[in-house]
Amino acid sequence: ATGSVPERPALLRTRRLTHARLTDDSLLPPTDRLTCIGPSWVTLIVGVLAVVGAQWGDEGKGKITDWLAADVGTVVRGQGGSNAGHTVVIDGVSHKLHLLPSGILRSEVLAIAGAGMVIDPEQLLAELEQLGDSRGKLLISERAHVVMPYHRLLDGAEERAKEGGAAGTTGKGIGPAYGDRATRFGIRMGDLLEPQTLRERLERVVPRTQALLDYYGTGDRLELEQLYDLAAGWGRTLKGCIGNASLAIAERLDRGVLLEGAQGVHIDIDHGIYPFVTSSSPTPAGMAQGAGIAPGLIDRVVGVTKAYVTRVGTGPFPTELEDATGEHMRDVGGEFGTTTGRPRRCGWLDMVMLEHSQRICGFSELAITKLDVLGGLDKIRVCTAYETPHGRLEHFPASMTLLAECTPIYETLAGWPALSPAEWQAAAAVDSLPVEVNDFITFLTSRLGVPAGLLSFGPDREATLRLR
Ligand code: IMP
Repeated sequence: ATGSVPERPALLRTRRLTHARLTDDSLLPPTDRLTCIGPSWVTLIVGVLAVVGAQWGDEGKGKITDWLAADVGTVVRGQGGSNAGHTVVIDGVSHKLHLLPSGILRSEVLAIAGAGMVIDPEQLLAELEQLGDSRGKLLISERAHVVMPYHRLLDGAEERAKEGGAAGTTGKGIGPAYGDRATRFGIRMGDLLEPQTLRERLERVVPRTQALLDYYGTGDRLELEQLYDLAAGWGRTLKGCIGNASLAIAERLDRGVLLEGAQGVHIDIDHGIYPFVTSSSPTPAGMAQGAGIAPGLIDRVVGVTKAYVTRVGTGPFPTELEDATGEHMRDVGGEFGTTTGRPRRCGWLDMVMLEHSQRICGFSELAITKLDVLGGLDKIRVCTAYETPHGRLEHFPASMTLLAECTPIYETLAGWPALSPAEWQAAAAVDSLPVEVNDFITFLTSRLGVPAGLLSFGPDREATLRLR
């Protein structure tokens, strides 16, 4: 009305700035072979970066997130809960995180638990205590849902009731908490701060949950007052960390934001091996939704894949190896669940899986982990398609009946020698990784049409290489 030109919102200015920096990086000269840039290489890139599990989870996202978090001011988890298990090793000390974003291990980073998460406050407080006084660096969305003790009871009861169809859940109450969210019986973190709201929510959900537990015949009795006291106590303790996560992220975009995925694309509720899936969406789209940012703000998507495949739950697994090679992967790779301690099922790398993940996530680069684990194997096999009774299959099927009938079609590559972490690092420093590693990575990336950005050959921060 006054004829004045409105100021462009701060968010837009930020966006232009981050894009300018991204463009600079994309202008780096292309190379026709892998060039290693040591861990001291400082990336110039800020913007929004998503780190996504390209397989069934446990790809090493925690370590990759921690590594990339050196370049950002904020790390956000947008989905999942304490079903995740991220191991980060710093100076030889192993940190196991389930709920807290891995970025919490860097003092200069703000770790955010976004609206799409389901938070078990008991677990959260235990992790905070284990880490010492990290609470100042944590923000929990007021919209995130609470995992209540009865969710864990229901998780166990529902798994038992499904018998052969069970997903092999982590037993952390994830499915029932997301179920309550969808049916609008959920309790949100913000509700813990409003005594009247909390009481009303509990009065609605407790009788219904009791009826469900009775239906499953668990024999558990829920006490409303006890649950109220427990939840209100969590609210009092966590009051200072609960707030508007979406807004906090928007205000920090210019310092770089990393969206940390938990689980993997193949246990996505929509695109995974349903019903053997988790209850959230570990895709860039799901992570943006859960964080509360516009999906178009994501500049780069790092797909994390092991050099082989592991699976910790049930369901068909075409390249599974129940032989000495599978044992080698489990033993050398330490393939036991961080959350449950269960031995992981192991198998050869599956490009059909990765093509499915790439289509859904649009990886701009890959982080290939656990290359060291395959060291010492004579031959490395990579599945490129499936043979089925109905013909050859190039794309990952939705039907679990069909997936169970799939026989992998393999290409065989030469193996590389077993090297110690020091030998890997020395080889990388002088740009002379074993030629077989080079061939393996070239095979994988050219098939998928996605470059490799990071290689990992051990749990330590130092055992990471940036490629160009
Ligand atoms: P839930 O997420 O505990 O409900 O488990 C559902 C399925 O997802 C089960 O097969 C779990 O083993 C699997 N799952 C959940 N979280 C992870 C994870 O962080 N890594 C690997 N598998 C997971």
